[in-house]
Amino acid sequence: MEFTELLNKRTCVRSYRNEPVTDEQMREILEAGIRAPNACNYQSWHFYAVRDKDIINSFNPEIARIPWISDIPLLIVICVDETAAGALVGKFGERGRLFAYQDTAGAANHILLKAADLGLGGCWIGPMNAEKCSERLNIAENHTPVAILTIGTPAIEMPVRDRKPLDDVITVIGKTVTSISPETEKKAKPFKLAHASVPGAVFEDLNLTDSKFRNINMQGAGFEDINMSHTGYEGLTLSEARFGRIDMSGAEFNGSDLKLAEFRNASFENVKITDCNLDGMTIDGINVKEAIEKVK
Ligand SMILES: Cc1cc2nc3c(=O)[nH]c(=O)nc-3n(C[C@H](O)[C@H](O)[C@H](O)COP(=O)(O)O)c2cc1C
Repeated sequence: MEFTELLNKRTCVRSYRNEPVTDEQMREILEAGIRAPNACNYQSWHFYAVRDKDIINSFNPEIARIPWISDIPLLIVICVDETAAGALVGKFGERGRLFAYQDTAGAANHILLKAADLGLGGCWIGPMNAEKCSERLNIAENHTPVAILTIGTPAIEMPVRDRKPLDDVITVIGKTVTSISPETEKKAKPFKLAHASVPGAVFEDLNLTDSKFRNINMQGAGFEDINMSHTGYEGLTLSEARFGRIDMSGAEFNGSDLKLAEFRNASFENVKITDCNLDGMTIDGINVKEAIEKVK
């Protein structure tokens, strides 16, 4: 499932079909569990996967209140590994113990997400009698049960539970960064292509407004249907280039070679041409150099 869809779809499932969770599914969800972030990578967790129906059924209500217990094909008891927790305490003092509990919470979350990803469902049970749980499952002394997860195939599709509005639960400290519009982004970081050799390149559907072209050899290039208004051209070789349906209004040509360049259906309003070679350049079949001579 796509990740955001998974996040939005996962919900606690408290009613399961009478179907087993396969070995492969069980391993997959536990694999997801151990991928969780954890303090110092000490992985201070241990998981007891319970599939014995009688043992599972004996959990309610003595160990935890799980009214839907008789349907559960898999129950995962998440424990703190006290050896790893002790190492965390040795390193960070008493708060190291809190890190071990945080590790197990992360693992539980990964497990529930992976279960949902596989089309299974799960529910997290917090309140429990850890001592009785240890006795019932013969849990090792250095493992402390902290949470139970019930896992199975959902019997019905559960509606997703609402959350408080995000703004009610967040406090932003520091500047708020508003999303950058493509327009702003373009201005902040203009696209730049420099020192490139791209013979035969094709540029299509372009908006080149306000672009600058410097020292570029575009001999024989073809330009069509391009917004090139207010562009600037300097030291360009555009000889024999062909321009069709181009908006060049406001463009500036400086020291460029426009010899035999051919413009058709182009808009040339307020174009400035300085020190350019205009030999044989035509606009809609009109020889530009001759036209200028006539005006003079
Ligand atoms: C620490 C913890 C303890 C929980 N304990 C129980 C529980 O004892 N019984 C239960 O039915 N659900 C329990 N839940 C599940 C929550 O009720 C559930 O996650 C919450 O209502 C939000 O619903 P959702 O997970 O479907 O979005 C627990 C969840 C957490 C994280």
